[in-house]
Amino acid sequence: MSPESKPAPSRIGTALRSPGAQPRGGLVPQPKIDKRPTYLLSRVYTEGSHTLAGYKKAGGYAALEKVLRTPLSYAQVIEIVKDSGLRGRGGAGFSCGMKWSFMPDPTKDPRPRYLAINADESEPGTCKDRVLMERDPHGLIEGALIACYAMRAQAAYIYVRGEYRLSYDRMLAALAEARAAGLVGKNILGTDFSCEIWMHRGAGAYICGEETGLMESLEGKRGHPRPKPPFPAGFGLWGKPTTVNNVETIFNVPFIVEGGAAWYKTMGTEKSPGNILAGLSGHIERPGVYELPLGLPAREILEVYGGGVWKGRKLKAWIPGGSSCGLMPAALIDAKMDHDSIKAAGSMLGTAAMIFFDETACTVRAMEVIARFYDHESCGQCSQCREGTQWLSQIFRRIEHGKGRMEDIALLESLAKGMAPAKTICALADAAAIPTLASVKHFRHELEEHVKLGRCPFQTGSQIAIPELAHAH
Ligand SMILES: Cc1cc2nc3c(=O)[nH]c(=O)nc-3n(C[C@H](O)[C@H](O)[C@H](O)COP(=O)(O)O)c2cc1C
Repeated sequence: MSPESKPAPSRIGTALRSPGAQPRGGLVPQPKIDKRPTYLLSRVYTEGSHTLAGYKKAGGYAALEKVLRTPLSYAQVIEIVKDSGLRGRGGAGFSCGMKWSFMPDPTKDPRPRYLAINADESEPGTCKDRVLMERDPHGLIEGALIACYAMRAQAAYIYVRGEYRLSYDRMLAALAEARAAGLVGKNILGTDFSCEIWMHRGAGAYICGEETGLMESLEGKRGHPRPKPPFPAGFGLWGKPTTVNNVETIFNVPFIVEGGAAWYKTMGTEKSPGNILAGLSGHIERPGVYELPLGLPAREILEVYGGGVWKGRKLKAWIPGGSSCGLMPAALIDAKMDHDSIKAAGSMLGTAAMIFFDETACTVRAMEVIARFYDHESCGQCSQCREGTQWLSQIFRRIEHGKGRMEDIALLESLAKGMAPAKTICALADAAAIPTLASVKHFRHELEEHVKLGRCPFQTGSQIAIPELAHAH
């Protein structure tokens, strides 16, 4: 083994935990590829892209003008979005237009109604909404206004991850500009459409990204998810009809309204149209946030956008869409990155936060870090999640540190199966169980090797004493 390819002691932990894993600032030059149009990041590289002047110079607020001046009816806007096939970018990939159409008819249900924009962005590896809020906040404001118009919502609340100070500041400044220009507030652009947009900062809890936890938190309560039903469209914020959408989902809307559904469907695949922001991190040459059409093979994304595995090393594992999707083996790197193809390959598109691990990485160490995260973030309401995440974390920890037993592998599997699918109020338990099952399925040999050796084969110096570790029965 050359010194260059020697395992570096704790790189996996660092890759998942530290800000270094998140591309600094997120923005890196996009490779120019013929016949592959980009629109989401079309403005972000320009100086002043976060200001109203910069946004207007780039043609901003034309979609809102089109909606209000034509005028397009509420139903027409929803129909365009539905017809475009836009799927939510927050993880679940649900049809955006369909979700909007679940909001009750205001002539029959006159309660106030709201849009909540999920900018909590806490799934490990995910770092794309931040680029949009920091560099193109007016794009999100315009999308929010059109969405509120279509759903006849009085106000939008943007719930921003607490650590995203710059995102919050840029959004606040953009909102002040938009309000002063008559774009937010009463009688927008001199029409009878009125809409408010408010900002709210989270306090660094992953659970507050879950849509009902987010609403509880926005209401000033502890971010404990609510059982569903009732669904947010019927009983959302303050018990009123509410739609929760991810930042990137809403950001797509003005482009769809301007370009039309047919244009939108020229990109991506039939069932996953459009472009997506993929956040590439881990052991690659060019980590960053890239805009690419849905449906590209993961290998192409790694090589063309990410510059390949760093230091000329080989790929061992990769995560397609944030840590809850689990580690896939290198053998599956030809899977395509759209909702259906990646599901057929046994994983999920998630938030398209792709994390790559080179041949020196330890998948058990990676799982130790991932499991600890979900244990830390479980809100504790459901026993399967509260207890299950704690045990998963402890078991991965003891295996990684040479204290595991062979039976622990079956125990991991049975615990994860007892937690998911859908056995709890929200999907945080699933988020911990899915990567556990993937680890047992694809990397069982590494778990076994740790147990047999009584240490981590990849990390010297991991022989720390951990007497507090108990054994689950
Ligand atoms: C534990 C947990 C955390 C979540 N965190 C986020 C998040 O940070 N951002 C986000 O957009 N969606 C997150 N989601 C998904 C949301 O519940 C919801 O599905 C999403 O905001 C809907 O937006 P979309 O339809 O536009 O994708 C999370 C879900 C769970 C179960």
